Amino acid sequence: MQKPKLDVLYSAATLQQRLEALGQQITEDYQQAGIEEICVLCVLKGSFLFTADLIRHIGIPLRCEFIGLSSYGNAQVSSGNVVVTQAIQNSLEGQDVLVVEDIIDSGLSMHFLLQHLQEKKTRSIKICTLLLKPDHLKIKLPIDYTGFEIANHFVVGYGLDFKGLYRNLPYVGVMRGEH
Ligand code: PRP
Repeated sequence: MQKPKLDVLYSAATLQQRLEALGQQITEDYQQAGIEEICVLCVLKGSFLFTADLIRHIGIPLRCEFIGLSSYGNAQVSSGNVVVTQAIQNSLEGQDVLVVEDIIDSGLSMHFLLQHLQEKKTRSIKICTLLLKPDHLKIKLPIDYTGFEIANHFVVGYGLDFKGLYRNLPYVGVMRGEH
């Protein structure tokens, strides 16, 4: 594949700085609420890097669970047809769940996930997303933590892909022109 034109939107250093602040805020909020242990739900595939780095800045005991969701396939616009590609392995009953996403764009994936979680009998659910496209949201969502609000760019890197590639970039980049 031809190398895409990428502009750095958030460098590795900028990302880590923001994650540190997010982790501190999350820790303080749960501590203030008297919650001593949480379950971090990593939404695959996109959020595996974000989750791995974020949890190192969270200072309360936590478990990790994983769910696979897919809505885009190889397209750049969400189909709205969200499917579970990998089920959550363990029970979430009675747990304080922090959902960690790489990006909320149309919001349809998160809306689907919240509905999916309804039957899991969790004690609480909070949402943390690294990136949010506020102008693209098609549905209102209770988002608790946002790393960065971005304009309508097509972003890749740091977990985010284009046709399965670029997830390993240490920064978030904007794809320019034809791709
Ligand atoms: C991406 C991302 C979110 C979703 C956000 O996942 O990880 O889950 O899209 O878009 P939305 O708000 O418009 O629904 P994708 O379906 O591309 O799967 P991936 O995480 O495996 O790359």
